[in-house]
Amino acid sequence: MGITKPDDRQAVFGEIMSRITTGASAAKIDVGLSLEDISAEVTRNLAPGRNGEVLLIPAHTTKQSTTTSFLDRLGLGKIVKSMNIIAGAIVGLFTSSSAFATTASSHTYVTNGNAESWLALGIILASIATAWTMNYHTPKVRVYGTLLAASGCFAVTAWFLFFVLGTGILEEPKPNQTPMDSAKPAFLWLQAAVAFLAGLLLVRAAFLQRKNVETLDLPSANEQDRYGRVSRLLHWTIAILFISLIPMGIFTSMIPEDTSFRNDYYIVHKTIGVTVFLLILVRLAWNWHSKRPALDASLKPWERKLAHGVHISLYGMMIAFPITGYVMTSMHGFGTYIFAWEVPPFLDKSDAYVIWGTFHKYLLPYLLYMILGAHILGALKHHFVDKHQNAFKRMVS
Ligand code: HEM
Repeated sequence: MGITKPDDRQAVFGEIMSRITTGASAAKIDVGLSLEDISAEVTRNLAPGRNGEVLLIPAHTTKQSTTTSFLDRLGLGKIVKSMNIIAGAIVGLFTSSSAFATTASSHTYVTNGNAESWLALGIILASIATAWTMNYHTPKVRVYGTLLAASGCFAVTAWFLFFVLGTGILEEPKPNQTPMDSAKPAFLWLQAAVAFLAGLLLVRAAFLQRKNVETLDLPSANEQDRYGRVSRLLHWTIAILFISLIPMGIFTSMIPEDTSFRNDYYIVHKTIGVTVFLLILVRLAWNWHSKRPALDASLKPWERKLAHGVHISLYGMMIAFPITGYVMTSMHGFGTYIFAWEVPPFLDKSDAYVIWGTFHKYLLPYLLYMILGAHILGALKHHFVDKHQNAFKRMVS
C-alpha cells in the first residue's frame, strides 16, 4: 500500500477505513503502529447504527492531530496558532486597562499602590487560562487544563494553611458585627478542606483523561445538545472567579482595621467582583445571541423544574452579589477599585448600607451555599447515580 513512514498516521487510517468500507480482505500493513493504536482509531471512526449496521462518522468529529513540532507534540501548538478571539479580547481589555491605570498616576481616581491590581489581573488571567485549556480541542491540553484547575484548588488550600492561619486573624479578628460572624473561621476551614478535596478529584480526573484521544471540535455558538466554546469559556472563568471571591470576602471582612494588607484585600476583592459583574453581562448577552442547549431529555419533570430554578438563582446571585457589594461600599462612603482605578462612591453616604450589607454579607452567602450545593449535588447525581454522563460532557468535553 506504499505506506512506510510510521508517523504517516492519517494515510494509514485512511487506508484502513477505505478497506473497511470497500469490504477488502485483511492485508498486512507494515506501518510501525501498535495494534491498540490502530484499533482505537478504527473504533473512534465507527459507530453502530440503529439497526446494528456500522456507520462512518464524518472526519471532522474525530480529527487526529498530525502536527509534528515540539509545541504540537506537547499538545500546545494550536494554542499559539489559533488564539481564541474572545479570550484575546478579554485579556487585552484587562491588561490594557490595568497597565494604563498603573502608569497614568496623575489620573484623579488612580491609587498609589498598584501591586494588588496586578494580583487581581493575575487571578483573572489564570482563571481564563484554566477555562480555556479545560475546553481546548487537543486532548493533551485538556489534561493540562484539569491540572491547572487542580492547582487553583490547591492554591486556595495553601493560601489558607500558610498565609491565613499564620496571620493569627482567625483567633483575633475584627470585632464581630453579629453573632453569625463567629462562624467565619469554621467556614474558612471547611472551604479550604473542600478546595483540597476538589483538587485531589481533579488530579484523578486528569489522570483518567490521559487516555482520551478525542479532539473536541467545538463551534463558538451553542448547539442543541451542548454548549459552544464561548459559553464554556465564560462559564468556567466566571465560576472560578465567583467561587474564589467567597473565602476571599470572608477573610477580608475579618481583617482588623490597622492591618497593613487590609486594603490590598479590598482592592483584589472589589476588582474581581466588578469583573464578574461585567462578565455576567457578557454571558447574558451571549445567551440571548446564541440559544442555550435544552436540558437533558432524560430529566424527570421535577428535576427539570429544580435545575431550571437553580440556574436562574445562580444568575441572580452573580448579579446581586456585585450590586449589593457596590451599593454597601458606596453608602458606607468608600470607593470601589477596578484594577488600579479607585472609582468614588456614586451614592450618598447613608445608614442604609447596613441593609445592603445584610444582603451581601449574610443573606446572599447563605443562600448561595444552598444553591451551589444543590447545583453540584444535582450534577453529581446526574453523573454517578443516574449514569447520564452526557450532563458533564455538555459543559466540559
Ligand atoms: C460576584 C461578586 C462578589 C461576591 C461573590 C462577593 C462575596 C463576598 C463575601 C462572601 C463576603 C464576606 C461577607 C462576610 O462574611 O462578612 C464579601 C465581603 C465584602 N465584599 Fe464582596 N463579593 C462580590 C463582589 C463585591 C463587590 C463588587 C464589592 C464592592 C464594590 C464587594 C465588597 C465587599 C466588601 C467591602 C466586603 C467586606 C465587608 C466587611 O468588611 O465586612 N464585593 N463579599
